[in-house]
Amino acid sequence: MAPAKLSPRAQSALVWAVYAVGLAPALWTFWLGASNQLGADPVKTFERFLGLWTIRFLILTLAITPLRDLGLFNGLRYRRALGLLAFYYAALHFLTYAVLDQTMVLSAIVADVVKRPFITFGMIALTLLVPLAVTSNNASIRRLGSRWSSLHRLVYPVAALGALHYSMAVKVLGAEQYIHIGLLVLLLAYRIARPRLMEAKRQKRRAAA
Ligand code: HEM
Repeated sequence: MAPAKLSPRAQSALVWAVYAVGLAPALWTFWLGASNQLGADPVKTFERFLGLWTIRFLILTLAITPLRDLGLFNGLRYRRALGLLAFYYAALHFLTYAVLDQTMVLSAIVADVVKRPFITFGMIALTLLVPLAVTSNNASIRRLGSRWSSLHRLVYPVAALGALHYSMAVKVLGAEQYIHIGLLVLLLAYRIARPRLMEAKRQKRRAAA
C-alpha cells in the first residue's frame, strides 16, 4: 500500500515537530542542571550530554540516504532539520565548554585547542559545521547550484572528526561508545561504497528490463 500523501501544511508541521522533539533533551537537561538534579558535576554532565546528542543527530542525518536507498523510509524532508539540530547541539556543547567550563577565558580556550588533540578535532568539526548550517536554506541552495552539494559533503569529515573526538574524549570505551562510533563508521563506509552499489542496482534493473 502506498503511504498516504501529506498536505504541505502537515509536512511543515512534522518538520517543526522534529525541531521541537530534537531540542527537548537539551531543554530538559538544562532544567535538571538549573534545579540541581544533574549530580556532582552538572557542568561536565551537561557538556557530555550535548556532545553525545551532537553525535546522535549526525548519525540520524547520515542515515536518511541509506534508509531511502533501501526503501525503508523516505525522510529527505527531515534531513535539514536533523543536520541543523546536530549543529545546534555542537554549538551548545562548545558554549557550555567555553562559558561554564573555561569561564570565557579566551587564552585558556585557545591553549586547550592547541594542546589537546581531541579538542582540536572537535573544534575543526564545529568550524566545518558552520558553513553547512549557514547554507541550509532554500535561497543558498538556489544561489550555490551544484556547489551546494559539494559544500555539504563536508558532513563526512565532520562525522569522522566527531567520531575521533568522541573516542579520544572518553577514557574507557564501552557499549555506548562502540554503538555510536560503529554506526558513524558504518554510515561513512556506506557513502564510500554507495556509487558502486547504485551502479550495480542500475545494471541489474537494465538487465531485467
Ligand atoms: C561536531 C563537533 C563535536 C562533537 C560531535 C562532539 C562530541 C562529543 C562527545 C560525544 C563527547 C563525549 C561525551 C561523553 O563523554 O559521553 C565530547 C566530549 C567533549 N567535548 Fe566535544 N564534540 C564536538 C565539538 C567540541 C568542541 C568544539 C569542543 C571545545 C572546543 C568540545 C569539547 C569537549 C570536551 C571538553 C569534552 C570532554 C568533557 C569531559 O568528559 O571532560 N567538543 N564531545
